[in-house]
Amino acid sequence: MYVCVCKGVREGDIRSLANTEAGLRMRDLRERLGVCSECGKCGRRALVMLRDCAGETNDPMEIEMQVC
Ligand code: FES
Repeated sequence: MYVCVCKGVREGDIRSLANTEAGLRMRDLRERLGVCSECGKCGRRALVMLRDCAGETNDPMEIEMQVC
């Protein structure tokens, strides 16, 4: 399933990157995959996935403050 339609980034792309490198942040996803670099609609989904891969909880208020 696509997370970022603008850049053609799929869930597997984000999970693969997150599983090979610890401590990734949204800016890393933006720089390497282009996530959230155009319309920004993918930001929330990408951040939830990133935090999920890191084993972090997804508090909706925290997500809202950190998206793009
Ligand atoms: S859907 Fe990711 S930048 Fe538009």
